[in-house]
Amino acid sequence: MDSSSVVSELNICSDTKQNRVLTEEDWKQKWENKNTGFHQVKIHKLLSEFLDTMLNNRKQLKIFFPLCGKAVDMKWLADMGHNVVGAEFSETAIKGFFEEQNISHVEEAVPGIPGAKVFKSTSGNLSLYCCSIYDISDSIVGKFDGIWDRGGLVAVNPRDRECYSNKILSLMDKDCRYLLVTVVYDPKLHAGPPFYVPDEDVETFFGSLCNIKCLKISDALGPVQKRWGLDFFQEKIYVLTPKSSS
Ligand SMILES: C[S@@+](CC[C@H](N)C(=O)[O-])C[C@H]1O[C@@H](n2cnc3c(N)ncnc32)[C@H](O)[C@@H]1O
Repeated sequence: MDSSSVVSELNICSDTKQNRVLTEEDWKQKWENKNTGFHQVKIHKLLSEFLDTMLNNRKQLKIFFPLCGKAVDMKWLADMGHNVVGAEFSETAIKGFFEEQNISHVEEAVPGIPGAKVFKSTSGNLSLYCCSIYDISDSIVGKFDGIWDRGGLVAVNPRDRECYSNKILSLMDKDCRYLLVTVVYDPKLHAGPPFYVPDEDVETFFGSLCNIKCLKISDALGPVQKRWGLDFFQEKIYVLTPKSSS
């Protein structure tokens, strides 16, 4: 079967395992137990390939990493002079990021989010909010020129996609370029995360307010996905831009 027929079959498939629900505690446990196979030690190849699409000839952007984990890409962009903001509810992940990247930082309470902390690099251009993304708002973090979403939408429980997309949309500035990476596989075979996100969901949740363009579909089948029982696994990257932008 070629990949296009697999994709069209997936789009009409209702018999999936994708009703799994992960709680905040489940994610925190993953970090405590070092069960973090999603973490990559190198810059994500789709980010380096499509960075110019996000930057669009602009410098010193404000870039958001939803559900950031300890993604090394954050330092890469901060070192280029961008202002990077992440949201992640595991303190272990955030502390791991600053320690492993050897970045000195301070820890502060967040006015407006009870119990939340923000970890800020002393250089000032990296701020990771330790709280649920749903507690963040543009009145606290402002709006963004760029968003890198790898391991974000695909990690959200499928029933929470609308809430997540509304949050992302509320944080996009008018010229924002949102790079979204989804994964495509047969959801009958694996419960997720990462959860399979069909094109239809990207359209449903973002299409009324954003132009959506698929930039690339690449084979990403590796030993991990094979252990999940998959023989087909793709990463798909889109760029989304507000419909009102010029
Ligand atoms: C699949 S990992 C991806 C991490 C990172 N984006 C990367 O590519 O390595 C998803 C991350 O989102 C965090 N997370 C899940 N739901 C969250 C929420 N509602 N608010 C904040 N963080 C969340 C988890 O703790 C986990 O670190």
